[in-house]
Amino acid sequence: MTVPTAPDKKPFLYVVVCASGVAPGVGELVTAAQEANWDVGVVATPRGLGFIDAEAVEALTGYPIRSAWRSPGEPRPLPPPDAIAVAPATFNTINKWAAGISDTLALGILCEAYGMGVPTVALPYLNSAQAAHPAYRQSLDRLRSMGVLIGSSAHHPPTADGAADRFRWEEALELLAPVVGTAG
Ligand SMILES: Cc1cc2nc3c(=O)[nH]c(=O)nc-3n(C[C@H](O)[C@H](O)[C@H](O)COP(=O)(O)O)c2cc1C
Repeated sequence: MTVPTAPDKKPFLYVVVCASGVAPGVGELVTAAQEANWDVGVVATPRGLGFIDAEAVEALTGYPIRSAWRSPGEPRPLPPPDAIAVAPATFNTINKWAAGISDTLALGILCEAYGMGVPTVALPYLNSAQAAHPAYRQSLDRLRSMGVLIGSSAHHPPTADGAADRFRWEEALELLAPVVGTAG
């Protein structure tokens, strides 16, 4: 499938950022996506917003970061997405998304993306204790059954600082490429 866009218009990627230790590196995915011919807008969870340099990300994308719902009548700050990458995807957001909970703007967008047929990829980033919870496996199964592409997770030990060096942002683009017909 190729994203239907006007000849002079690039496809638009939403990068949904959750509150985890690797979130400050989101610029890496934004830049890689732009190099692969995407226009990019970032949507942060309310807690995720505290992990990123909002000013730097906005300068990189040229769009305001979205985190809260707009007021009725306010214009939409971002064009509609041709695809969505949730990176990093937290334990919390994965479980709520799979359960159909929509109490952040990011979750609202993700819950509706399924019904709207927007290709979506998630790169989970969580520790092994979180990953051991039975709800997590069920959530991944449900998201896969919804057609969500799930990246290879490198779970870090609960007490360690993380596995940031093993988090591959570009995997989001690699997984989306065959679905949306763009360069990985
Ligand atoms: C420094 C720090 C690092 C965290 N790292 C992770 C993580 O790697 N994965 C994860 O699922 N949660 C992590 N958390 C916990 C989440 O931030 C927490 O569950 C939060 O509610 C997630 O919100 P969100 O899913 O709306 O972004 C971390 C919290 C802190 C303070």
